[in-house]
Amino acid sequence: MSHSLNATPLQALKARALKGIARVPGDKSISHRALMLGAMATGRTSISGLLEAEDVLNTGRAVTALGCPARKVKGSWEVIGRGVGGFSQPSQDLDFGNSGTGVRLMMGLLAGHDVRVRLVGDASLSRRPMRRVLAPLRQMGAEVEDDKETLPLTLKGSSDLIPIEYATPVPSAQVKSAVLLAGLCANGETTVVEREATRDHTERMLRHFGADIRTAKRDGGMAITVCGDVELEGRNVIVPGDPSSAAFLTAAALIVPESEVTIEGVLVNETRTGFYMTLREMGADVAFLNQRDEGGEPIADIRVRHSRLKGVRVPPERAPSMIDEYPVLAALAAYAEGETRMDGLAELKVKESDRLAATATGLQLNGVSARVDADSLIVAGGGVRGGGMVATHMDHRIAMAFLVMGLGSDRPVAVDDVTYVSTSFPEFRGLMEKLGAAFETPK
Ligand code: S3P
Repeated sequence: MSHSLNATPLQALKARALKGIARVPGDKSISHRALMLGAMATGRTSISGLLEAEDVLNTGRAVTALGCPARKVKGSWEVIGRGVGGFSQPSQDLDFGNSGTGVRLMMGLLAGHDVRVRLVGDASLSRRPMRRVLAPLRQMGAEVEDDKETLPLTLKGSSDLIPIEYATPVPSAQVKSAVLLAGLCANGETTVVEREATRDHTERMLRHFGADIRTAKRDGGMAITVCGDVELEGRNVIVPGDPSSAAFLTAAALIVPESEVTIEGVLVNETRTGFYMTLREMGADVAFLNQRDEGGEPIADIRVRHSRLKGVRVPPERAPSMIDEYPVLAALAAYAEGETRMDGLAELKVKESDRLAATATGLQLNGVSARVDADSLIVAGGGVRGGGMVATHMDHRIAMAFLVMGLGSDRPVAVDDVTYVSTSFPEFRGLMEKLGAAFETPK
């Protein structure tokens, strides 16, 4: 089944200029990590700007069920941590809904605790591969009942975890993070070697909480080492705006003539900004203004003006730094002059949906010539006819990418279900409407 029982279809109408200043909600990756590391620290961690979307709220419920209450207090969130190794046996299953990050990072933490926990998720998450995380965690001493490799599954942790050195076979921040978080609870030094740099929020935040963590160049990539059995202390965390959410507003302003939008306080950590680099190569007028540091991460205000874009080739090595932005880049590429070719997209097939197939099909349904060639997506530019109903497959980013595409097409672009937008960006529709976009229920 491609959507929930209460699917809510929506369509975007052709927009006139989008104008204004906006703020997007907190970064999803950093929000998950703040709750989890807060739980592993002793005492109170206070988090401002936490993303209050379903994925992150599920992580908050999980740490609460493990004995580390997370709740909102006067506009900020706080977690009362019980120190590394401090989780207690939960009395219920832990439900991560739609979130791969939530469940995979939590598997890392649970691996180092003497608990037996059943992990569940929705139909999308239950199809996604967990072996990539479970394989190293098994090496460290965790057990999975019935050797399952997809949810639902029961993980049995160990308070006597073995430190390992692990070379990640896929470029994945979730795999790296799960092993590093397990390493926190292991007795000795755990090292992850990654060939291609992926987002480094776990490393930055571990450091912020007082962990002993080192990085060194190794084999053309990077070795990241964390020392186990440390004490982390509760801290204040400031969560910057999510560049992956800002990408939808940015793309909308580029598509709609005469638009000018500024998005304030967005994370611009270079492990996350491949999309913006690509836009510049396409000829987009996108500027990072007021660059500054906040809470150990670089942030900026992103100013974007409608631009005539040209097609480009996006190299495979850029994929990790823009992995969540390919659907919206493809939507944008449909408006560019000439072809855009995106290479090295194997990982897109195992996201909340098979994003490679979902994106190509959605484009074709709306009169855009697009094709998948092995791990590449090729989109012919020249404009969008619209008029199609796109299957979102329980995937928030597919829904948002195609609604954005519809802001520039002659006929509306519809998506079959917008309910999953609330997993990462509940404010999407409201923010877009404030800038001048219009959506309606398809007839
Ligand atoms: C994330 C890592 C990426 C990304 C996801 C968030 C993270 O997944 O797609 O949205 O917070 O670590 P992979 O690790 O599977 O590439």
